[in-house]
Amino acid sequence: MTETLDDTALQEHFEHRVAAEERVEPRDWMPEGYRKTLVRQIAQHAHSEIIGMQPEGNWLTRAPSLRRKAILLAKVQDEAGHGLYLYSAAETLGVDRAELTDKLIDQRQKYSSIFNYPTLTFADIGVIGWLVDGAAICNQVPLCRSSYGPYARAMVRICKEESFHQRQGYELLMTMMRGSPEQREMVQDATDRWWWPSLMMFGPPDGDSPNTQQSMAWRIKRHTNDELRQKFVDMTVPQAEALGVTLPDPELRYDDERGHYDFGEPDWSELKRVISGDGPCNEQRVARRREAHERGRWVREAAAAHAAKQAARSSGPTSEEVTR
Ligand SMILES: [Fe+2]
Ligand SMILES: [Fe+2]
Repeated sequence: MTETLDDTALQEHFEHRVAAEERVEPRDWMPEGYRKTLVRQIAQHAHSEIIGMQPEGNWLTRAPSLRRKAILLAKVQDEAGHGLYLYSAAETLGVDRAELTDKLIDQRQKYSSIFNYPTLTFADIGVIGWLVDGAAICNQVPLCRSSYGPYARAMVRICKEESFHQRQGYELLMTMMRGSPEQREMVQDATDRWWWPSLMMFGPPDGDSPNTQQSMAWRIKRHTNDELRQKFVDMTVPQAEALGVTLPDPELRYDDERGHYDFGEPDWSELKRVISGDGPCNEQRVARRREAHERGRWVREAAAAHAAKQAARSSGPTSEEVTR
C-alpha cells in the first residue's frame, strides 16, 4: 500500500516537473511508460539513421565528380554519427545497444518507412537531401526541446547537420535544373517518386496515431503528425517553385483563409504496407544491415578484448608490463 502511495506521489511530482518544462535526466525517477516510449522512439530514430545510410551509400562509388563524392561521403558519415549519438541516448535509459541492433535485424523494432524506397538516379541524392532531410528537420527541430535531456541534447547537433544535408541536396538539384533537359527530367522524376513517401514520414494521420496525446503530455513530442506534415508542405512548396519542379499533387493550392497550403491525401495503405515489411526494399535493407553486423563481429570482439586488457592493466602492473 505504501509503495502505491509513493508511486503516485512520484508520478505527480514527475508530471509537474515535465509540465513546468524541466528536463528529465537519466537518474531521475520516471514512469515506466515514459521510459518505454522513449526507448522505442529513440531506437527507431537511431535505426533510421543507420539504415538511411544505405540508399545514399549506393551512389558513393558512382558520384559524378570528386566534389559530389566528398559531399555525399560527408553526409553519409554524418548519418552514422547520428545513429551513434542516438544509441548512446537510448543506453541512458537502461537498454543495451547490442540488444537494440538485434531487435532491428530480427525486425522486432522499426525504422522510418522512407528508407525502403530505391535510389534510381543521382537526382535521387538531391531529392533525398531536399525532401527527406527537409522532413527530418521539421520532425526533429521540436525534439531539441524534448523533455528527456540526453535526447534533446543529441538533437541539437543532429539538427545542425541535417540543415547541411538539406542544403547540399537543394544545391545539387539547382545545379541539375540549370543543366540539360535530361537532367531536368531526372529531377522531376525523382521529385515525383519521393514526394508522397516524404509526406508519409510524419506518420499516420492524427486520428490514427493513438500514442500522440500521451507523448505530447510528456513533452516528448511537441506537435501532432498532421501539424508537422502541414508545416513541411508550407515550407516546401515555395522551394519547389524556386527550383522549377512540379509537386505531383493536383490538389495542392494555397488557402488564403487558413494561411496554409491544402494538399491531397497520401495513400495510407501504402504506408501500412511499407511499415509492415512489404516496401520495395525492406528485405534488402535488413539483409544488408544483418550482413554488416556479422562482418563487424571481429571488430567488436577485438574492442572488447582490448578493453579487458586495459582494465586488467589499470588494476595493477602485470608481470608482462613489468618485464617490458
Ligand atoms: Fe540524420
Ligand atoms: Fe540527414
